[in-house]
Amino acid sequence: MKIHTLLLSALLVSSAMATENFSIKQEGVKYIKMLGGALKTELKAHMQKDPSGLEALAFCTGSANRITQEVNAKLPVYAKVRRTALKIRNESTNKPDATDEKIMNAYQEAIDNKTFSPKDIKVVEKGDVTRVYKPLITQAVCLKCHGRRLSSQITEALQSAYPQDKAINFKEGDLRGVIVAEIAKH
Ligand code: HEC
Repeated sequence: MKIHTLLLSALLVSSAMATENFSIKQEGVKYIKMLGGALKTELKAHMQKDPSGLEALAFCTGSANRITQEVNAKLPVYAKVRRTALKIRNESTNKPDATDEKIMNAYQEAIDNKTFSPKDIKVVEKGDVTRVYKPLITQAVCLKCHGRRLSSQITEALQSAYPQDKAINFKEGDLRGVIVAEIAKH
């Protein structure tokens, strides 16, 4: 009898924890989609206006950070969302930390081993903050500014805006980076 009660309460506790983790994951994914969606909508519109990619590039250079801040302003105070990558373009705003690198290396390993799923959302607890990661895979549309054969105008614009740019030479299917939501205990 006693053991049953114990078991039951242990089960209830673990299912409550599972529910909480599940809802943090969902909350994180929602914020990730807000940022990913906002950037993608803008990118698409600018690429349509000017298929060379130059206008979209100027837009990303000038406004990616502002859009990130605008999306963050809409989130609850305990949450934030950002982009990062192993090979980054913007050193000043998008630098990964050790946890980011660990997660991205795990995604990269899965890609190398052909066990990767783009739906693999990773949830990591770091002190009082839970991080939710979504991988960003390089698509054809990304190649104009992150690919191997860039137009000379794009190359020039990139070199002048990002002299330390490491975010080139990607091909379709490569891990381009991640979007990460950070949700503090509240
Ligand atoms: C028109 C050019 C252009 C296209 C197309 C483009 N990007 Fe970028 N990307 C940029 C620029 C410029 C930055 C740096 C923005 C900044 O200053 O924050 C950037 C930054 C990023 C970053 C942030 C990390 C870093 O390197 O600084 C990620 C992640 C990213 N791009 C992913 C993608 C993905 C995925 C696609 C395709 C869906 C894509 N980009 C298409 C120009 C582009």
